[in-house]
Amino acid sequence: MLESQDWTFPIPIAFGPGRLEEIGKFCVELKVKKPLIVTDSGSANLPFLSELKEKLSNSGLTFEVYSKISPNPLDTEIGSGCEKYREGTHDCVIAIGGGSAMDGGKAICLTANNEFDLWDFEYEKKPPEIDTKLYPFPKLITIPTTAGTGAETESTAMITHTNKGMKFCIFHPKLKPDLAILDPVLTLNLPLNLTAWTGADALTHAIEAFLVPGFHPTCDAMALEALSLISKWLPVVYEDPQNLNARSGMLVGSCLAGVSFLKGLGLVHAISHMIGAEYNTQHGLTNAIILPTVLRFNLPGMEEKVSRMSQSMNLTDNSISGFIGNTETLLNRLEIPKSLSEIGIPINCSKRIAEKALIDSAAATNPRKASALELENLIKQSIAGFSD
Ligand SMILES: [Fe+2]
Repeated sequence: MLESQDWTFPIPIAFGPGRLEEIGKFCVELKVKKPLIVTDSGSANLPFLSELKEKLSNSGLTFEVYSKISPNPLDTEIGSGCEKYREGTHDCVIAIGGGSAMDGGKAICLTANNEFDLWDFEYEKKPPEIDTKLYPFPKLITIPTTAGTGAETESTAMITHTNKGMKFCIFHPKLKPDLAILDPVLTLNLPLNLTAWTGADALTHAIEAFLVPGFHPTCDAMALEALSLISKWLPVVYEDPQNLNARSGMLVGSCLAGVSFLKGLGLVHAISHMIGAEYNTQHGLTNAIILPTVLRFNLPGMEEKVSRMSQSMNLTDNSISGFIGNTETLLNRLEIPKSLSEIGIPINCSKRIAEKALIDSAAATNPRKASALELENLIKQSIAGFSD
């Protein structure tokens, strides 16, 4: 007998080129008067931020900007953001940017209007009991400017615990973005390397989510459609960055992949979270390098799932080796390095990273249980690069 489940996703989504234009109208509809824009330090001077500010001003809204979120957001940065939110008596967070900006915005929402500690919201713990009538979470609007993270539809956020040097997932079931704006025009000028790396992150989300064991047909359907869109449009967008159809396909694909991993992720993310927390590497790039090694470990015995993914991706070879080969070909087209050593990760961190990755929430949903030693070996292979 299949277990009972509650399906509560996704959220209201405004998709289409130019939808950012409507931000003033959306704020009125959500009864927002004084938003705090949250973005990452790298986006503070990018055109999409000035565009957002201009649209808000034109709509008569007052706002402030908090842009001190680093690529791997720190708990201390979230604390400062909460102070800014409270001091400015804001009523909404508009999280705009890549995954780190949106994770930062979501994490600020979790603690801005209550007295709980950020780490009380850790995914593995029982969620804090909050009377959201008395202490409502801020209104939250998410606006992704990369097609990769899929962070726009959920309240989960990966935040680095500065004292522990580890990344943890935080979350509360009652915090959901009130609106996600998917405007592909915002992604047109994303640099080519970030286009590839964030796109590879989306690909990894869809693959890892679909491989998570268990009955979750809505997530699985999202993962397969995401794979269809991403495998079609990622090579196109890399070769033709101004192609708005390709940018649109990638933005929707990454959003669906983001919804699908409500079901969980796997060892690629477990390892990547800990490498990122220690070495501040780009998340999607780290995933992309690790992906083939983890697929070789996970896929044996998963013929049926591999066949379904291959069909979604329109591959002629539905075998496990065909799937891995095709993934490597795609990563090669995106000029992804073949080893973590090429991005500065030393081999002697393998044991330490393995110990940390083993307790990452993404490791718990990996389809094949890995021992500490197996995990260490996967990390060594990812650092050194695979050789037959
Ligand atoms: Fe990811």
